[in-house]
Amino acid sequence: MSVEVKFRPITVDTFAKKKQNNEKITMLTAYDCSTAKYFDEAGIDSILVGDSVGMVVLGYESTTLVNMNDMKVFTAAVSRGAKRCLVVADMPFMSYHTTVAEAVKNAGELIKEGASAVKLEGANDYIIDVVKRCVESGIPVVGHLGFTPQYLNVLGGYKVQGKTADKTLFILNQAKKLEEAGAFAVVLEMVPEESAKYITENLNIPTIGIGAGRYTNGQVLVADDILGKFSDFKPKFARRYADLKSVIKNACESYINDVKSGKFPDESEIFHLDEQASAELKEQK
Ligand code: KIV
Repeated sequence: MSVEVKFRPITVDTFAKKKQNNEKITMLTAYDCSTAKYFDEAGIDSILVGDSVGMVVLGYESTTLVNMNDMKVFTAAVSRGAKRCLVVADMPFMSYHTTVAEAVKNAGELIKEGASAVKLEGANDYIIDVVKRCVESGIPVVGHLGFTPQYLNVLGGYKVQGKTADKTLFILNQAKKLEEAGAFAVVLEMVPEESAKYITENLNIPTIGIGAGRYTNGQVLVADDILGKFSDFKPKFARRYADLKSVIKNACESYINDVKSGKFPDESEIFHLDEQASAELKEQK
């Protein structure tokens, strides 16, 4: 099921201009149409349909179980709600690792669901080929370096990356390869602020940080973290702006109480037969 999406006014050029003008780029994840609509109306620059959907919506323990069908459904939902901001869809684990042709096909499917761009993790030679072929095929790409959740098992846990000068230079080198391959931005996750600053200053494309300090060109956070909806844990770098968990639980408890006590539904929430139909019904007895 594809959605036809009009060209959104915020584009890859907007990202480039914001870096040039030293204006911060704002990005949040979203996974459903109404949240995307509200973030869009609030003025966000970009929505990431993150594979974090696996953890915060689908209840998995990591992102690796998310598949293309999941990402297509959530990307289409967000795309229907986001009319102006740039929608980036995550390529899920194993959707771009087997062959370049398969990767480009899968990236194209997310664009057909309404994404403006795709994001993929890493920057080895094979990934760089995938990025090149996507861009050559008309698919804008965001890279993702530092802590890359799809490599959780290889990295041995949720660990800050780039903690030495050498490791910082390694990530910068990866970022430069992504830039040369045509990526228009790169997410830097869980790297020290000094490393992220150095990488940002030595790159032409914008960096979007998550747990990467204050000097990246933009910031991204997971919606369920800022809204206080996901409560299994709170990453150090996430800031909570609302407490949706309490809002949802309180609303549910009030509903249960009202149903049990007969307070719900009340006169304003019910339909009535007209007098004649009501009288006819009584005569049936
Ligand atoms: O899936 C996701 O939410 C992400 C962010 C952590 C950047 O990739």
